[in-house]
Amino acid sequence: MEKQTAIKRIESLRKELERHNSLYYENDNPEISDAEYDALFAELKALEESAPTLAVVSSPTAKVGGKPLARFSQIAHRLPMLSLDNAFSEGDIAEFDRRIKRELGLAEEAIIDYVCEPKMDGLAVELVYEDGELVQGSTRGDGEIGEDISANLKTIKSIPHRLAELFPPQLLELRGEVYIPLEPFQKLNGEREEAGEPPFANPRNAAAGSLRQLDPAITAKRPLTIFCYAPGLIEGIEFDSQLNFLKKLPALGLPVNPLTKKVAGISGVAGYYSQLMEQRESLDYEIDGVVIKVDSFAMQSELGVKSRSPKWAIAWKFPPRQAVTVIEDIVPSVGRTGVITPTANLRPVEVSGVIVSRATLHNWEEMERKDIRIGDTVVIERAGDVIPAVVRVLLEKRSGSEKFLEIPSACPECGSPTVKLPNEVAVRCQNLSCPAQIREALIHFASRNAMDIDGLGEKYIDQLLRLGLVRDIADIYSLTKADFMQFERMGDKLAENLLTAIEESKTRELATFIFALGIRHVGEHTAKLLAGAFGSLQNLMSSREEELLSIREVGPQVAESIAAYFQDEKNREMIERLLASGITPSVAEKRVGGRFTGKTFVFTGSLERFSRSDAQKMVEAEGGHAAGSVSKKTDYVVAGAEAGSKLEKARNLGVSILSEEEFLLLLSGGD
Ligand code: IVH
Repeated sequence: MEKQTAIKRIESLRKELERHNSLYYENDNPEISDAEYDALFAELKALEESAPTLAVVSSPTAKVGGKPLARFSQIAHRLPMLSLDNAFSEGDIAEFDRRIKRELGLAEEAIIDYVCEPKMDGLAVELVYEDGELVQGSTRGDGEIGEDISANLKTIKSIPHRLAELFPPQLLELRGEVYIPLEPFQKLNGEREEAGEPPFANPRNAAAGSLRQLDPAITAKRPLTIFCYAPGLIEGIEFDSQLNFLKKLPALGLPVNPLTKKVAGISGVAGYYSQLMEQRESLDYEIDGVVIKVDSFAMQSELGVKSRSPKWAIAWKFPPRQAVTVIEDIVPSVGRTGVITPTANLRPVEVSGVIVSRATLHNWEEMERKDIRIGDTVVIERAGDVIPAVVRVLLEKRSGSEKFLEIPSACPECGSPTVKLPNEVAVRCQNLSCPAQIREALIHFASRNAMDIDGLGEKYIDQLLRLGLVRDIADIYSLTKADFMQFERMGDKLAENLLTAIEESKTRELATFIFALGIRHVGEHTAKLLAGAFGSLQNLMSSREEELLSIREVGPQVAESIAAYFQDEKNREMIERLLASGITPSVAEKRVGGRFTGKTFVFTGSLERFSRSDAQKMVEAEGGHAAGSVSKKTDYVVAGAEAGSKLEKARNLGVSILSEEEFLLLLSGGD
């Protein structure tokens, strides 16, 4: 390449990578896939290496991560948190191994012990334990300075507030990856969609977004967990190798990935890599490769570090789960709450062992941004076991006959006009009797977390609709054996089982029933709050918006949606029919006359005697309520060490403040 052209390309690559760095690290909202990022990064690195005079310290190839956000206070890492160089082939690993032996002055045939670990796809954090106490937690930031997210990290159940050792080391700094496993990730996204919020693109974004919340109460609700994998500064305990370091952690109460393994030389590494790649599909969390580390700490310190990465470790990335195919059609589909989502029908293609024929396009804004059209040749990518997404269009394959799908002005199912609310990306059908919405409402009502009608899944619901046997959820309870016997391949026993399952669902708890109704913005959590606050369906149905608003955690949007649902004559009539068919939503047994009946507690600061969730359980078992924030309605604030603004607020409002011991005393009946 001409020098001038190279300079131009380097400049544009640097700009582009900086933009993507900021989208990924600072906004938790990347535009391109990791594989595309890696390709741009590799191109820049190669160009800089071919013309070393053009390499500069401010280049993305010499830097780690993103800028710490100003909304958090900043923490300087005592030892820099480095990144890792990437390897993409066995050849790259052989080169890494040769270089290590050369720098250590070892013979070419020498066999190095490596520790192989799954490369977790989450967010790197540092935890600082002083005398066994978790005193601080931070993000990686730019490697030198990270964000103080101590309060958020303390809400993660798998991170101990105290090390499980009688005589802990004076200082133990640890690095690890915070992540969200796949199943809870899908559940979280389901809840977000239900609440009209945009779903997270992948578990990594969900983890990063959840950790960088200003309100730890939000973080606490997210299913975050951690694997620890590297030491920072350590005093009062010594380790001679990565494996011995990792072996010690579980005894201290710190989780380590059980798939970590010590192997001999590059053949051991290659074996581990292919085995892990096979296992990848069955893991309940996302990984994107193998991290390979020289086991011996003596060797590690002899090898030292470069500007952004250690010389003794490397990340061998898995090939992206991508494929190229053609979008044969784009169909708008209507969900339970009326959200219309564009879905791409693809020419079927295999992506790492799975045949893919559909991809989600999320919404029209996203479709426009990526300029996705019917007939386009596209790169699709599978992440975890979520529906594959279209990564980008291969513009060079355009013939000119591709068609853009405009936002539908009418619902594709019922023809009612669609709306796009100003603060939402979603396009909606607002007709509550839209057949698509009815179908989704029935599926939701019968599903496991809702009324749990065993056996009544999509397949039978479609048949019920086709035969005109149900028009809404209440109709389920007037079904007879003869109705089911009209189905194809239906036997006596099966029909009876379905009827029994329907009968059994009549006694579900009130919270479950409220959730099952499928009111917009009312997920499982909100349904529990409503059941707790109103105690009966009748009370809830006659509640006014102001009463709903007085419930903690119920905001104006949610209150409006609930009030509108129960004001709708059609809904009221349907609920009447549900009750008439013998449904008796029961109220979960609360200890009446429990010590804390009607009392609200807020726990703050770092608690030593019990975890936050245990505290909550103790309070609830005595009929009380544990809240996330202090208000006039708070009866007690239980403050642990380093309690901050909540304690101050409690003092200002004159709320009683208890130490952990005093709380336990109160719980056991003392004064
Ligand atoms: S070790 C000096 N081990 O990968 C060593 N990192 O690209 C630094 N990561 O920032 C990290 N799994 O977020 C290490 N088992 C593992 C890892 C891991 C995931 C991430 C981590 C790090 C990034 C480097």
